[in-house]
Amino acid sequence: MKTKTLLSVFFICAIGLTIASLPMSSLAISAEENDISIKRGEKIVMNYCALCHGGEDGKLSGKMMDDIPKLVGTIHTSNITNNTEKGIGKYTKEQSRVLLRTRVKAYG
Ligand code: HEC
Repeated sequence: MKTKTLLSVFFICAIGLTIASLPMSSLAISAEENDISIKRGEKIVMNYCALCHGGEDGKLSGKMMDDIPKLVGTIHTSNITNNTEKGIGKYTKEQSRVLLRTRVKAYG
C-alpha cells in the first residue's frame, strides 16, 4: 500500500514536471486560414474587439476605457495592431494564435 502511494505521488509529480517544462512553442494551435475565415474574423473584430481596442486613429491601437468607474482604476486596452513596437507586430502567426487563445504573451 505504501509503495503504491509513493509510486502514485512520483507518477503525478513526473507528469507535472513534464508539463511545466514544455516550451511555449510546443503549444500547437491551428487555425483555418481562408477567405471565409478571414472575412468572419474581420466581422468579429469590427463588431466586438474594436469596441474596446479601437483607438482614435481608427485602428486597433487601444484606448483608455473612460466608462470604467474610477473606483476600479484606469484601464487601457492593449494595442493589438501589427505595429512592431507598440502592437503585436513582432508575433509570428503561431505566437498570435497562442496569445489570442490563451493570453500567454510571447515575450513574457
Ligand atoms: C470589454 C472590452 C474588450 C473587448 C470587447 C476586447 N478586449 Fe482585448 N483587451 C481588453 C483590455 C482592457 C485588455 C488589456 C488587459 C490587460 O492588460 O491585462 C485587452 C487585452 C487584449 C490582448 C492582449 C494584448 C497584449 O499584448 O497583452 C489581446 C490579444 C486582445 N485583448 C485581443 C482581443 C480580441 C481579439 C478581441 C475580440 C475578439 C478583444 N480583445 C475584445 C479589453 C477588451
